[in-house]
Amino acid sequence: MPGNGIQLTDGDITTLAVEGIVNAANNALLGGGGVDGAIHRGAGPELLTQCRTLGGCPTGEARITRGYNLPAAWVIHTVGPVWRSGVQGEPELLARCYRSCFSLAREYGLRSIAFPAISTGVYGYPKEEAARIAVREARQALAKNETLTSIIFVCFNSATRLAYQKALAEPSGTQRSA
Ligand code: APR
Repeated sequence: MPGNGIQLTDGDITTLAVEGIVNAANNALLGGGGVDGAIHRGAGPELLTQCRTLGGCPTGEARITRGYNLPAAWVIHTVGPVWRSGVQGEPELLARCYRSCFSLAREYGLRSIAFPAISTGVYGYPKEEAARIAVREARQALAKNETLTSIIFVCFNSATRLAYQKALAEPSGTQRSA
């Protein structure tokens, strides 16, 4: 789907035939529940085998692996912040997750990438604020990286879709920087 800029889609990220999908992982990078569990199930055991070689991932950073049995060629694993009070660096750490993923997308020449709503599940990040950060970083990435033409935000539930729709309705430049 070249040239479509930012899009929303419902459903399961593991079904998307984009070049890269992002995993909302934990620091151990050894799998888990939520989208992490779905991606490992979809990729198969070779993903865990490769993850074991990575030595974990600090919060805010990202690591890339093959997609193995997934339709996506690559999986970018990032570790979002656990939401505590909002004044312990969570917004900046979440923004760093997106920037880390976009940096790997640029390094690997990805034209399309799909994201789950990082940190908004088990990690409890408020959906609307997380969506504002995601949309802001995506707009900046599209402006800076000519190779990347399609960013898809996957809405696994209606609250997430509403949060992204609200964030996308805000013009660029009106959002507080995290
Ligand atoms: N496809 C797309 N989105 C999904 C899927 C899926 N198959 N499964 C869950 N989601 C959505 C959730 O509904 C939520 O909107 O992904 C978003 C992120 O939720 P989590 O997967 O719980 O991730 P996160 O909040 O970042 O917590 C990460 O959870 O699974 C563990 O190992 C993981 O410890 C880590 C923690």
